[in-house]
Amino acid sequence: MLDGVPTLSCITLVHTVDGRDVTTIEGLRDHPLVHAFVRTDAVQCGFCTPGMIMAAVDLLTDNPDPSDAQIREGLEGNLCRCTGYQNIVRAVRDAARELREAGESARPAPPTPEAGEAETPDSGLPREQVPGETIPQPVP
Ligand code: FES
Repeated sequence: MLDGVPTLSCITLVHTVDGRDVTTIEGLRDHPLVHAFVRTDAVQCGFCTPGMIMAAVDLLTDNPDPSDAQIREGLEGNLCRCTGYQNIVRAVRDAARELREAGESARPAPPTPEAGEAETPDSGLPREQVPGETIPQPVP
């Protein structure tokens, strides 16, 4: 998620996220959706599960009490041929109920840097230059 908006990481150039709020599945470690996916046996592969959880975060942020049809519609960009989505829909429904009962939003809190960690660490990766853009060079 970039600035709280689900984003296709596979087509996002890393330099475009510099200084922005990035949340990956690792940032949702204690999120009720993650616990609900585990509890209801809704786990799929390492591509599907993070994508479905990220999409579900966005869905529940906008609609804290979705119907099963709305859950399926909210997850429709995640195409998995290995599941019937039954447990996944159940997990999202369970997490939605849990969040409503706790009076919490599905949107994760912005990450806070660990002690001693830079707020925007340099990945060290070469970056592609966008026409017209000046790439800052490291200071020797
Ligand atoms: S579990 Fe990922 S493609 Fe089916």
